[in-house]
Amino acid sequence: MNWLSRLPIRLTMSKSSSTAAGRPPVVILGVTGSIAAYKAADVCSQLVKAGCAVRVVMTADAQKFITPLPFKTLSRHAVVTDLYDEEEGWQPTHIRLADEADLLLIAPATANCLAKLAHGLADDALTCIALALNPKAKLLIAPAMNGKMWGHPATQANVRTLTGRGAKFIGPEEGLLSCGYEGLGRLWNVSEIVAEGLRLLR
Ligand SMILES: Cc1cc2nc3c(=O)[nH]c(=O)nc-3n(C[C@H](O)[C@H](O)[C@H](O)COP(=O)(O)O)c2cc1C
Repeated sequence: MNWLSRLPIRLTMSKSSSTAAGRPPVVILGVTGSIAAYKAADVCSQLVKAGCAVRVVMTADAQKFITPLPFKTLSRHAVVTDLYDEEEGWQPTHIRLADEADLLLIAPATANCLAKLAHGLADDALTCIALALNPKAKLLIAPAMNGKMWGHPATQANVRTLTGRGAKFIGPEEGLLSCGYEGLGRLWNVSEIVAEGLRLLR
């Protein structure tokens, strides 16, 4: 009996989205300190319903916007909130997750996170996972920020750097931003982020 046949029918993703090994795809969902962080709970829920094994990693700033509890409940796994979180076993959690990942999805991704990824900084669990990510895993980034932050040459240079290394971006989209401005910076539609993640897993 494989993982697909053990899932309730309504939660089952298309067979084509399973990994070659026939196990559920492992998605590391990185959540950073954006006002859109609450939308990541829906991303998590939709990925789980699609049959993915989701492990949520939150930055310290993300935890100012939403607690780990909804992610723990929705993903049915402990949430990594600190680089020094301990689990059973000898291997550091961030290295194990980096090894196991089929997809690292960062949604929402802050300007700060993009800068850290582009420059190879590794001062928290999420950026350590990104640096240690196994080469077969895909990286999908859904940015959300103020339009001036997104349009700043520093952020745009970071996006180019990351794209050049193979990272995929989805969004941001234009609209009314929570900071009070209109512009390009809203998190992309959650269902479309999930669909893109599943597409990359195939
Ligand atoms: C109310 C509020 C909303 C914020 N929203 C965003 C945002 O949407 N995008 C962003 O890049 N930064 C935003 N910031 C700033 C980030 O939280 C800040 O840069 C932080 O250091 C990001 O940390 P992280 O990337 O480790 O999660 C916001 C800050 C506050 C106080």
